[in-house]
Amino acid sequence: MNTVKLTIAELRKDKGITQSELADFLGVSFQSVSKWENGITMPDIALLPMLSEYFQVSVDEILGLKPLSNRIYKSRKTDSEEHWNKQLDYLKDSRIELWNHEYLEFLISKVWRITKPIDIIDFGCGYGYLGMMLLPILPAGSTYTGVDISDTLLEEARAIFKDSEYKTEFIKSDINLFNVKEKYDMAICQALLRHLPNPKDILKKMIDSVSVGGMVTCIEVNRAFENEGLYIQGMDYSSNSRTPIMQKLWKTELELEGRDYSIGMKIPFYMQEYGLHNIDIRLNDKVSFINPFADKNKYNRLFNSLIKANNWDRTLSNDEKENIIKLFMNRGLTRAETEEYIKSDSEIRSYFMKNTDNAFALKTLCLLISYGTK
Ligand SMILES: C[S@@+](CC[C@H](N)C(=O)[O-])C[C@H]1O[C@@H](n2cnc3c(N)ncnc32)[C@H](O)[C@@H]1O
Repeated sequence: MNTVKLTIAELRKDKGITQSELADFLGVSFQSVSKWENGITMPDIALLPMLSEYFQVSVDEILGLKPLSNRIYKSRKTDSEEHWNKQLDYLKDSRIELWNHEYLEFLISKVWRITKPIDIIDFGCGYGYLGMMLLPILPAGSTYTGVDISDTLLEEARAIFKDSEYKTEFIKSDINLFNVKEKYDMAICQALLRHLPNPKDILKKMIDSVSVGGMVTCIEVNRAFENEGLYIQGMDYSSNSRTPIMQKLWKTELELEGRDYSIGMKIPFYMQEYGLHNIDIRLNDKVSFINPFADKNKYNRLFNSLIKANNWDRTLSNDEKENIIKLFMNRGLTRAETEEYIKSDSEIRSYFMKNTDNAFALKTLCLLISYGTK
């Protein structure tokens, strides 16, 4: 059953009127309005058409069953420092099991055939994860420059490399304002373009930052692959109804903000448009098989990485649920769809919380790796 959640307070504030003014219009006391807004009582059914007329929205919108059509789209600002300064723990948890190291070695030696030291620039480097992965397996003498908007992440990156033998530099800059002064042998990014409103502009900047013959590599998701990439033994795979709901949300974000949930699949086309050569695309081959019958340390590593990165190690508070509902409805989903999503997500959460020692699941991200030469 769909829960009714009146939107009167939001509508009233949007219109810039007080509870008393609304109460006068409806011929009720301001205490009544206050009680509706606090969820203590509901307005008489006969008042709904008046409210609908007054705020110029449908009764469903007043009852919170449909998203407010006049709502101003609220970006999550995933291209801002404020957002990423809070994400260090999430990034660390989600990167523990992101790559099979030998696959990265294979790309460097057999696919990209890098045999001499190179200078790499990493756009949106975060806490320097790619530098940590790449420097030990690149030819000795290679250098790594990371650019990022987040001071918190860059501080961590600098601390990690402080006493290392590698030549690194970390530059704080909004990528949109970043002025590329030097030319590098490779520009790389991972999980960056998906978060930006203008991924093509940044790809262009990456291309500008390499010398002729240099390489541009983008490692990015397709969120639909990622979302479908979870199988939990004992749970009906097809009942994981989150993807169609999320697709609506992603589509709105793409249309209204430019955040592209399927950017991973489009980059090779953009690379072609920008004149890169030898463009090719591969998949990161990492699949996490969370198997309680396997080695205990491996099990714990995979299990913890999955549940922490997805915040599945605890139940959501009512406020958190309400924030999800607000976010989803702001992106055009109905309350019923949002509640269905929360229900499906809660089932996954409770599975992992109940089965900390014997969860049996498989997770693959299918990160797409696109590359080309200038
Ligand atoms: C999902 S994280 C990926 C970090 C890193 N590439 C990795 O894979 O661990 C996205 C990164 O992009 C950075 N970022 C987002 N918007 C940015 C912008 N406008 N300018 C510079 N960096 C930005 C964030 O600070 C964050 O470190």
